[in-house]
Amino acid sequence: MKTLTIIRPDDWHIHVRNGVILKTVLPHTAQQFARAIIMPNLKPPVTTVAQALVYREEILSALPQGAKFTPLMTLYLTAATTIAEIKAAAESEHIYAFKLYPAGATTNSDAGVADINAIYPLLAALEKYALPLLVHGEVTDDNCDIFDRERVFVDRHLTAIMRDFPHLRVVLEHVTTSEAVQFVEAASDNIAATITPQHLLFNRNAILAGGIKPHYYCLPILKRETHRQALIKAATSGNAKFFLGTDSAPHTRDLKENACGCAGCYSAFGALELYAEAFEQADALDKLEGFASFYGADFYRLPRNTDTITLEKQTWTIPHTYSDITPLKAGENLSWKLVSA
Ligand code: NCD
Ligand code: ZN
Repeated sequence: MKTLTIIRPDDWHIHVRNGVILKTVLPHTAQQFARAIIMPNLKPPVTTVAQALVYREEILSALPQGAKFTPLMTLYLTAATTIAEIKAAAESEHIYAFKLYPAGATTNSDAGVADINAIYPLLAALEKYALPLLVHGEVTDDNCDIFDRERVFVDRHLTAIMRDFPHLRVVLEHVTTSEAVQFVEAASDNIAATITPQHLLFNRNAILAGGIKPHYYCLPILKRETHRQALIKAATSGNAKFFLGTDSAPHTRDLKENACGCAGCYSAFGALELYAEAFEQADALDKLEGFASFYGADFYRLPRNTDTITLEKQTWTIPHTYSDITPLKAGENLSWKLVSA
């Protein structure tokens, strides 16, 4: 039996929600990962240290007995964020970053930032207090084609942010285009990027060819094959600027299979297995450990994990449902399975 043992990974971008959904999805993440960067786009968004600490307690109390999992909390950056809150976040041992959502870019982003220039004093404070800025890198103009929104964001905003705040550490979340990959490769070591399993495994045909498939709809939207190839190349290159962030984003089935369906793919149930599939297709399984277990921790200046997980080459069928959440690739096969964690 072929096996793959690697240092236990971390997930540097995840939505675990709260309430009932949290209880369904959290055990999946806690089984695979030691730590995860928890996205703050709840309703209402997590904008203060006090709210993040309450949310953290809810997460800890939803963990299965005996689970060793550490949620790394983030705050949602808004035009109303104060410099005092940024300082308090920097002083908290539980807050690891701020998340920038352009207003209206994605699920629960109404409270996001409408004018990036208006938050320049806040970006200066993040730079000063050495807190990473996590960026949903898409413009939101109605007249910008949805497939171009990331590329235009990089040109219009990210270039300026990196130039004006040379010491600010930035993670361009869930990169989806060759242009974004090239930007990250060429820019300073203060920028890194997360890559999701769905953007490594699928191109936009998965959503649109042969019928409309809402469970493949996420933001940034899947792109054409040339972009997927660029992402595979980046993820398997051994370049420490690219690391694992699933962007697992559960929504109940009624909200996905809807005339106006929500964006988000649920992948936490088998995150490592999905990445292993993509890395194996690229004949690069030897690069999985760096991507999944080392580079993110290094970028966040946290110690690498020391225990291991083992995957076994074994075909299994993904269930059609986890509670009322349809997983990515529901009903299809995966060829790696987590066997010891
Ligand atoms: C995320 C969600 O549902 O919270 N959706 C998604 O398609 N990725 C939000 C996000 O990360 O953009
Ligand atoms: Zn996300």
